[in-house]
Amino acid sequence: MNILITGGAGFIGSHLAERLIALGHRVTALDDMSAGHPDSWRKRRKAANSQWSAVP
Ligand SMILES: NC(=O)c1ccc[n+]([C@@H]2O[C@H](COP(=O)([O-])OP(=O)(O)OC[C@H]3O[C@@H](n4cnc5c(N)ncnc54)[C@H](O)[C@@H]3O)[C@@H](O)[C@H]2O)c1
Repeated sequence: MNILITGGAGFIGSHLAERLIALGHRVTALDDMSAGHPDSWRKRRKAANSQWSAVP
């Protein structure tokens, strides 16, 4: 399934994305980087089956 997650660099969003990718889903995560965790963002954006986008 293709799934869009908003706030994907945040605590809930990044963990949700990681779990859904592990279950075989294709995840697109959007985040405006107003908060969240840059390390999580950098680590998880390298995952296969995922596409991460920062919204200006
Ligand atoms: N180690 C821990 O247990 C731990 C760590 C952090 C947070 N928490 C808890 O997690 C909860 C918060 O988690 P969360 O994931 O809701 O918050 P979060 O701040 O971690 O994530 C929210 C994300 O949404 C993004 N965002 C905000 N507005 C946006 C917009 N208009 N467009 C796109 N992106 C946008 C932010 O940049 C951020 O990355 C709190 O209850 C907190 O106590 C626990």
